[in-house]
Amino acid sequence: MAEHNLQNIDLDKYPHINKGLDGIVAFSTTKSFIDGKSGDLIFSGYHIDTLAENATFEEVCFLLWNDRLPNEQELDDLHQKLRSERKLPEPVLTYIKTTRKTAEPMAVLRTAVSMLADFQDDSSDTMDHAIAVTAQIPTIIAAFDRARNDKDIIEPLDEGSTAFNFLYMLNGEEPGEAAERTMDLCLVIHAEHGMNASTFTARTICATQSDMFSAVTGAIGALKGPLHGGANTAVMNMLLDLEEKEGKDADPVAFTKEKLSKKEKMMGFGHRVYKTFDPRAVHLRKMSKKLSEETGHEYLYEWSEAMVKTMKDEKGIDPNVDFFSATVYYSLGIKPDLYTCIFTMSRISGWTAHFFEQKENNRLIRPRALYVGEKNLEWVPVEDR
Ligand code: ACO
Repeated sequence: MAEHNLQNIDLDKYPHINKGLDGIVAFSTTKSFIDGKSGDLIFSGYHIDTLAENATFEEVCFLLWNDRLPNEQELDDLHQKLRSERKLPEPVLTYIKTTRKTAEPMAVLRTAVSMLADFQDDSSDTMDHAIAVTAQIPTIIAAFDRARNDKDIIEPLDEGSTAFNFLYMLNGEEPGEAAERTMDLCLVIHAEHGMNASTFTARTICATQSDMFSAVTGAIGALKGPLHGGANTAVMNMLLDLEEKEGKDADPVAFTKEKLSKKEKMMGFGHRVYKTFDPRAVHLRKMSKKLSEETGHEYLYEWSEAMVKTMKDEKGIDPNVDFFSATVYYSLGIKPDLYTCIFTMSRISGWTAHFFEQKENNRLIRPRALYVGEKNLEWVPVEDR
């Protein structure tokens, strides 16, 4: 009904602006459901708590791509396909080795993913492309981190999970069971989240009938921003800056209050949809507590909890997925500027699932803007301006 009415409104006569498209429903989807009031999140029928407890990242990929869980054979096939696609084309590897060492990892990832398009045998966007890009993103991230630190690049394994192989390529040694499970859980949690900015970008690019690599490249650009996926890196930098300035006796409550009094945003807090605790943050909070105790970073966890309480008391705002993921990755020994890349490693599953969904029932995405400039200016020759 709403769609029909809107089509009949003459927007030139009755313009209205919805800044940030807040609350606009532009698509139907089977990929995820978010209840921002109760803090529930569902991926293709399964609650995030159920998936966090039981699923592997590969099962979640299959679920998002097919709207059902895989049987044993299907899961095995997917593992095999992902493993067989992990290696990068030589020119992409050369780019990673030769680009500036100080380049932003998300910028390198964006460029490398864009390059991958040139090495696909066919240009029709198939599930093989989704599997290839999902398999190759971890290789790009690990290769760049090692190249920029003058370390040998480690070839991907043709066995093991995405989480296991990524930590192996990054650190040059096989991860323990606990580290693999933590990484896998992070990948499960970040896989999909409705019409967030990067998924919307991917669908917008798809809707022009452009290709999957263009959609994913655009989505990476959107995720990189600190108001979206870039917030996890910003959270860690905020905690580390606090430590550098004030040492381990720093006062996180005073720090938070000062930021708020200056009208600055606390990174990792607030959400367009959740008006309660982000259900993903519930799982990450538990992991952060456990890992920070194990690695001697309890103070970072304690500061985080003090910030959560202060934000709630002062502004009524809860943490989002990025807040506790920062200290989880830090405890795994991962450098802060890679955190958003790890988010990408996971969200690629959601982006590609939405790409196929958009393609199946496509319409060009093309909103309007209210023109607020002049309309009747007279032309002035350049020499008279
Ligand atoms: N710190 C302090 N105040 C905040 C925060 C925050 N993190 N988030 C929202 N607010 C306040 C705003 O100042 C504003 O207050 P006011 O009405 O008194 O001016 C009010 O809450 C509404 O904030 P908006 O920015 O208008 O809310 P919006 O829905 O547009 O933005 C967003 C949501 C971008 C996530 C915002 O909360 C934010 O900037 N958070 C920090 C960045 C961040 O953590 N991003 C990750 C989000 S999760 C993800 O994308 C994976």
